[in-house]
This record gives sequence, structure tokens and C-alpha cells, in this order.
Amino acid sequence: MLNNRRNFIFRVSIVINIAVLLYAALHLSSTTSPSVEWMPLTVDGSERSAEFRYINQDEVRNNTDRAESSVRNFEESTSQKTPSTMATTNKTQSSTASIPELEKKVNATMPESDTNGTLEIEDEDALNPATLAYLRSLLACNDRDMLPVTTQRGEFWVLKNYVRADHGFIQCHESITYTTHAGFEFLDNVQPLVERWMAPVSLAIHAPGSDLAPTVNSIRYLRDCLNNDLVKQFVTFHVFFSHKHIPSTIPDPEKFLQQPYNCSLPPPHIVNANSTYMKAKSLLYPVNVARNIARDSAVTHFILPSDIELYPSPNLVPRFLNMIARNAKPLSTSTKPRVFPISIFEVDAKVQVPSTKTELRSMLANKTAIPFHKFVCPNCHNIPQGQQWMNAAETNQMDVFHVGKRRGKFVHWEPIFIGTHQDPYYDERLSWEGKKDKMTQGYILCVKDYDFMILNNAFLIHKPGIKHFVKNAKRDAIAGKQSLFVKNVIMPQLKTLFGTRNGCAL
Ligand SMILES: *[C@@H]1O[C@H](CO)[C@@H](O)[C@H](O)[C@H]1NC(C)=O
Ligand SMILES: *[C@@H]1O[C@H](CO)[C@@H](O)[C@H](O)[C@H]1NC(C)=O
Ligand SMILES: *[C@@H]1O[C@H](CO)[C@@H](O)[C@H](O)[C@H]1NC(C)=O
Ligand SMILES: *[C@@H]1O[C@H](CO)[C@@H](O)[C@H](O)[C@H]1NC(C)=O
Ligand SMILES: *[C@@H]1O[C@H](CO)[C@@H](O)[C@H](O)[C@H]1NC(C)=O
Ligand SMILES: *[C@@H]1O[C@H](CO)[C@@H](O)[C@H](O)[C@H]1NC(C)=O
Ligand SMILES: *[C@@H]1O[C@H](CO)[C@@H](O)[C@H](O)[C@H]1NC(C)=O
Repeated sequence: MLNNRRNFIFRVSIVINIAVLLYAALHLSSTTSPSVEWMPLTVDGSERSAEFRYINQDEVRNNTDRAESSVRNFEESTSQKTPSTMATTNKTQSSTASIPELEKKVNATMPESDTNGTLEIEDEDALNPATLAYLRSLLACNDRDMLPVTTQRGEFWVLKNYVRADHGFIQCHESITYTTHAGFEFLDNVQPLVERWMAPVSLAIHAPGSDLAPTVNSIRYLRDCLNNDLVKQFVTFHVFFSHKHIPSTIPDPEKFLQQPYNCSLPPPHIVNANSTYMKAKSLLYPVNVARNIARDSAVTHFILPSDIELYPSPNLVPRFLNMIARNAKPLSTSTKPRVFPISIFEVDAKVQVPSTKTELRSMLANKTAIPFHKFVCPNCHNIPQGQQWMNAAETNQMDVFHVGKRRGKFVHWEPIFIGTHQDPYYDERLSWEGKKDKMTQGYILCVKDYDFMILNNAFLIHKPGIKHFVKNAKRDAIAGKQSLFVKNVIMPQLKTLFGTRNGCAL
């Protein structure tokens, strides 16, 4: 009886599935100006072309391909998860492969102009068409769309791509996304960040309860009221909040983006940090949920997951991609998975943030700049060959300075690095208040024997103001608990999932 019923339900579900597929297929084949039939936000022609800017153009160019991708999109939108980043084609798997492995495939597709197999790069700060074509075949990455989705992630609702950058569709090989997160009270960092990065930024904002209203106003202020359009052009905002702290209303970006913000009002993100809803309710900051949301939404192959107060050195994106395209040693010889750590420094509150390594080095010499957290946790951010890095003069192109490992003296290293979507995620059970929130990722990188390819001329500067150690009893209590949780619960799980390796610790 029960069996029959199950059978019946099973059959019905097959019939429904087939009907849906047929419907999708019919719909596609019958439309003449098509491409975007399945997209959620489209109402009239103009909206459609606006949406079109954010779509993977390869998917919409070809009828045959389109039928496939629309079915895939349908499946994704009916599942509760964010669209999967783990595709099952060989193409995606190869993006973790070392470059020599990729080269075999690339040799067939080298740009024709380049018969010697060498790229001519005249300007390290720009990407020429031949370099881009070569990068595309070298990275063999999948382009991704930027559609707005309301989805769930554990106990959190996520409004992914809530306010999107105006840059439109970007191919996965042609830039790098700075992925980051914050509460709205930190959004003063967005302007200096984007002015130095000059490339896509994916920003996840934790906005529980009444924090959403000032979050929306801050986004509007940053887009409308600064002296340039860079935030509008490059920054995509996602917001998220626990299902226990849903805002009373969710403003519709389609509407509020139509009205320019009143720029005579004070910047909404300049508030006493104690006055937020999050603080009033004593919520912990779900830092790793935020990190993972920002990263999942990035459309480029390379990503720089970072903290919003860390400002990158200028021209990092084109110089890095030119380095990748040159594919010199050790990039071409190492067969291990790799990430690219960037050295971090703090500067005095009153000084200008340095723009070149040369400038940084003279500031280190007169002590207006110091290695990151020198006075808070001197060994946490020690970087292999850090002193040699500081002694080495700036060179005229980006290269790998040193290949380090997260072992020995650096066994607890929490580096900030350029990586890809294939790197391990951050553990979403950990809070910022609990500290050591990136250690579990570091452990997995170590077990997987990642190479840490430290970049020579690139650096990150913390928002000006040198930090000193301040005791915080409340935070220490939370940190004590989290530390035990990591040791007793998470660590055994990581060992089961990823195994162990000599010299790797949390
Ligand atoms: C569309 O895709 C099909 C099958 O993948 C291919 O045979 C055809 O050449 C493609 N057409 C265009 C215009 O790319
Ligand atoms: C994936 O790779 C395997 C082994 O290299 C090959 O047999 C298979 O045909 C590939 N699949 C696709 C979809 O390319
Ligand atoms: C790619 O081609 C170059 C020159 O033709 C050759 O030296 C190199 O070994 C090739 N790489 C691989 C991985 O086959
Ligand atoms: C090929 O190599 C020769 C000599 O090594 C050089 O003169 C020429 O410019 C190179 N051509 C390209 C397209 O790189
Ligand atoms: C903008 O805000 C200022 C300051 O509160 C106010 O005086 C002004 O009337 C507002 N302008 C508009 C158009 O609402
Ligand atoms: C915020 O609250 C903490 C502890 O209650 C206090 O020490 C700190 O001075 C407050 N900060 C501001 C900016 O008011
Ligand atoms: C330190 O060096 C920087 C860069 O050369 C310079 O701008 C700054 O004035 C110097 N500061 C002091 C206190 O010497």
C-alpha cells in the first residue's frame, strides 16, 4: 500500500518534471526575440535590456546552448541554495589544476599572433587583447551571471545582488573581485577601497532588523553623493540577516534607485557604532557567513577575500593578471594548488596611505608604517620572508617573491590572499567576536599542501591609525568558548573530512 503510494508519487513527480521541461523548451523555441525569457525581473523590453547587461552573453547567444542553460537556471531557482559554484564539467575542475597541466590544453589555443608562445606586455597596468585572449584559455573558467536572488543560508536570509554595480556582465578571466563584508557603520571604507582597487567589489552587509534602513540609505549615499561614480560602477551590495531578525520592510531597489539621494543629509553610515540594532540586541557578527556570501556572488575566476578596512595597492588587478599570463616560474613549474598572499601594513592616523612599495619602504624606514598588528598580535600576521620582502626594492612588474607554506613558524598564519572559487570556504559556525575565524580554512589549505605564492610589489594598508592592544573581557569570554568549540568539535570533523598532514595545525 505504502509502496504503491510512493510509486504513484514518484510517477507523478516524473510527469511534472517532464511537463516543466517541455514547457521551458516550448517557451524558448517559440520566442523570437528571446534570450531572456526565463529571467525573473523582466517586465517590458527596456527592463529586459537592462537585465541583459548582467547575463552571461555566451549563454544567450546560441539557441541550442540557451535551452540547456535555461533548464539549469530553472533548477537552480527552484532549489533553496544559492546557485552552485561547483560545476561538474571538466572545465571547472581544471581551474584548480596547476598551470603546467592547463598548458597542455592551452598550447592548442594560443593566440595566433603569438607564434613564439611569448606575450608582449608593454604596459603592466593594462591588459591588452592578446593577453586577455591568452588568459581566457589559460584559466578555462566559467562565466557567471549577476541576477538578484533571495535565498537562504542556514538561519540567514540572503538578498544576493541586492544593489548591483553598473559594470554589467564581466567575463571571468578579465578582472579580479575584491570580496568583503561589513555592518553599515563600516561603509566609510568603501570609497578609499574602490578608488584604489578600480575593479569589481562584492560586498555582503549584515543588516538585521532596523539596521536595514540606514544600510539602504548608506548604499544610496555612496552611489549618489561622492565626487566620482566608482561605487556605482564597481560595487555590488548583498544584504543578509537572521530569520530571527527580519527587517519590518525590505525596500525595493528597483524603486529606491530611481530617486537620487538627498546629499545634503549627513552620511548615514557615520554613527556611533554602539547605536546599531546589532549591538542593541547583542548579536554576534556572523563573519564567515558574510565572507562566503560575498565570495559566492563574485563573477570572476580570481577573488581577493579581504577585510573592508584593508586598502590594496593601486593597479594590483592588471599587474597580477599580466603576471598570470606571463606564466613564468614558479607559476609554470609548481604542480600544487596555490594562493597569492599579500603583505599587510598599518600606517599612522595622520599620514597618506602609500601608493607604491617604494613609498611604503620609506615609511617603514621612518616608522610611519609598521607590519600589520605589530602591537596587537606580533606573530599572527608574520609572513614567510617578511623581513626580506621589506628589504627588497620595488621592481617593474609583479612576480612571486617567495613560495611559503603554512607550517613551522607560520603554522598559525592567517594570510589574506588572492585565490579562486575552488579554495576552501570559511566555517559559518564561527563568529568574529570569537576570533581565529579563518584558522579552519588555513588548516585545510595546509592539509591540501597549498603553495603560498607571496607577491613582490603588492600590499594592503589598513585604514590609517595604528592599533594597540586593548583588553576586552567580554570578547575574551566569547573567544574562549569559540576556541574550545573549534578544538573539540570542528577539528575532529576537519580531520575526518580532509585528513591530516605532518606540520599542519589549526
Ligand atoms: C550553437 O551551438 C551548437 C551546438 O553546441 C553549434 O553546433 C552551433 O554552431 C552554435 N551556433 C553558434 C552561432 O555559435
Ligand atoms: C572529462 O574527463 C574525462 C577524463 O579525462 C573524459 O573521459 C571525459 O570525456 C571528460 N568529460 C567531459 C564532459 O569533457
Ligand atoms: C607548450 O608548447 C611549448 C612550445 O611549443 C612547449 O615548449 C611546451 O612544453 C608545451 N607545454 C606543454 C605542457 O606541452
Ligand atoms: C618571435 O621571436 C622573435 C625572435 O625571438 C622576435 O623578434 C619576434 O618579435 C617574436 N614574435 C612574437 C609575435 O612574439
Ligand atoms: C535635503 O535635506 C536638507 C537637510 O535636511 C533639507 O533642508 C532639504 O529640504 C532636503 N531637500 C529635499 C529636496 O528634500
Ligand atoms: C561603546 O560602548 C563601550 C562599552 O559599553 C564603551 O566602552 C565605548 O566607549 C562606547 N563607544 C562609543 C563610541 O560610545
Ligand atoms: C616618512 O616618510 C614618508 C615617505 O617618504 C614621508 O612622506 C613622511 O613625511 C616621513 N615622515 C616623517 C615623520 O619623517
